[in-house]
Amino acid sequence: MELFLDTAELDEIVKYRDFIDGVTTNPSIMSKYKLSDHGSLIKEICKVVSGHVSVEVISQKYDDMVKEGRRISKICDNVCVKLPCTSDGLRACKTLSIKGIPTNLTLCFSSIQALLAAKCGATYVSPFLGRLDDNGHDGMLLVEEIVEIFDAQGYETKVLSASVRNLQHVIQSARVGASAITISPQIFGQCLQHHLTTLGLERFSEDFQKSK
Ligand code: E4P
Repeated sequence: MELFLDTAELDEIVKYRDFIDGVTTNPSIMSKYKLSDHGSLIKEICKVVSGHVSVEVISQKYDDMVKEGRRISKICDNVCVKLPCTSDGLRACKTLSIKGIPTNLTLCFSSIQALLAAKCGATYVSPFLGRLDDNGHDGMLLVEEIVEIFDAQGYETKVLSASVRNLQHVIQSARVGASAITISPQIFGQCLQHHLTTLGLERFSEDFQKSK
């Protein structure tokens, strides 16, 4: 399973570099930085991780998306162009995929959108678990359904669990066979800790000190 960090914070990416394959960003994440710095920041991130770094287009029309996607893909070899699951986004995915440019179809809220993304040659499709849960749906059911459809149809598009809100989302995504997951630094920190491990270690250390 590929692990991505959902951030553009270089310090956090460096902190978790030994555990992650790549990075995902989105316009909200990038809005924390000056527009003129985006290109250089992405280049820096691409140097830290060897896997894909997803960078989303801002354009919403097919022609503009293709132009912007081509420009983004030239920033670094490991950049993956993130496109929304709209009609224009899916068409742009098809065009960029034919040119061999990796794509991540984002804002996926239904298995039909995922199926279309796979048919358009997407490298990844990102179902947004947390946002579905927030709206009274079961995000994990969608991930499960997409994995089942891709397996049944033999699609190579990878299911990337996104909008992850808790550790259960991480565990369940792995259980149902998602190929990838993107996790915020805050949740990644939780993944690396268990209070019983901390407690156990303290006790081992205390016991050992007593025996000296
Ligand atoms: C995925 O690639 C997105 O950047 C992200 O997971 C969105 O998560 P949010 O719903 O917490 O904004």
